[in-house]
Amino acid sequence: MKTPVRVAVTGAAGQIGYALLFRIAAGDMLGKDQPVILHLLEITPALPALQGVVMELNDCAFPLLHGIVATDDANVAFKDVDFALLVGSRPRGPGMERKDLLEINGGIFAPQGKALNAHAKRHVKVLVVGNPANTNALIAQANAPDLDPKCFTAMVRLDHNRALSLLAEKTGTHTTGIRKVTVWGNHSSTQYPDLHHASVDGKPALALVDQAWYEKDFIPVVQQRGAAIIKARGASSAASAASAAIDHMRTWVMGTAEGDWVSMSIPSEGSYGIAPGLIFGYPVTCKDGKYTIVQGLAINEFSRARIAATEKELREERAGVEHLLGR
Ligand code: NAI
Repeated sequence: MKTPVRVAVTGAAGQIGYALLFRIAAGDMLGKDQPVILHLLEITPALPALQGVVMELNDCAFPLLHGIVATDDANVAFKDVDFALLVGSRPRGPGMERKDLLEINGGIFAPQGKALNAHAKRHVKVLVVGNPANTNALIAQANAPDLDPKCFTAMVRLDHNRALSLLAEKTGTHTTGIRKVTVWGNHSSTQYPDLHHASVDGKPALALVDQAWYEKDFIPVVQQRGAAIIKARGASSAASAASAAIDHMRTWVMGTAEGDWVSMSIPSEGSYGIAPGLIFGYPVTCKDGKYTIVQGLAINEFSRARIAATEKELREERAGVEHLLGR
């Protein structure tokens, strides 16, 4: 039996937390031979609800669950963790300005970055799910100067999975036959789901669908899918978000399939002309616990304009939180 690893989840009593924790404890994220100790962080008023979740986790008698730490102190929650899924955040409410949203989340992700810096394992893998995810990840990373910046990622895997599903439906195929879809940029409505390099059962995706569908249906539907789910369910996507978080971490640890890639928001070092430092959705391959940007893809004018639009939004978000980045 392997040594247990420590997995922190913030916002653990929330919707996504409820869909996520049981799957981590069942081995869906790190494998059926990897025991885990869950570190659950919540705000103080949510601790009673969190206790309920802890009771339910215990009641599952998961063979791989070797302990639970439940706390409202980030210094306790991140102590010696190998993985951290930062889910708890303050999503945008009605009438809230982006400036206010970024400010409130700065108050969450700057201290959490500091606590990770002080207490997490040096190889910790951090995934930010809580919105605005890319910029929250940037804030956490900037507040953790002793950790490798590459420890910090944000989630565009849900958008990636949505793109796979939509393309499979349109082409009458299955998602497992689709390769090399990319979601570039921000996890927001400016994201760019790119099919120029994608294939469906070995054939170029864009040869199977018409350009009008790609531009007028596919791209906006993927971009607006989160809003469509809120409208239908009266609540934001939770089980699919949790599933994407599991996929993101599992791929990071276990690697990408030969001949395929996934989309991850990771720190830019300038690839494809993106401003260095932004946490940007890129096509990546993963091997031996490390991710690498897929280089050398041809980017046409159509793609270039859309990548530039989502990069502009992320640069503006970064400008709005400059005072939280410690420089
Ligand atoms: P929720 O409101 O059900 O749960 C959030 C939980 O976080 C609450 O229990 C709250 O008490 C907790 N929390 C708030 N501040 C905290 C802090 N400082 N430390 C620890 N816990 C804290 O929300 P839900 O549905 O679980 O969504 C969580 C976040 O994920 C939201 O920001 C949402 O917008 C985002 N999201 C991101 C997606 C993505 O693809 N990146 C997809 C879907 C949702």
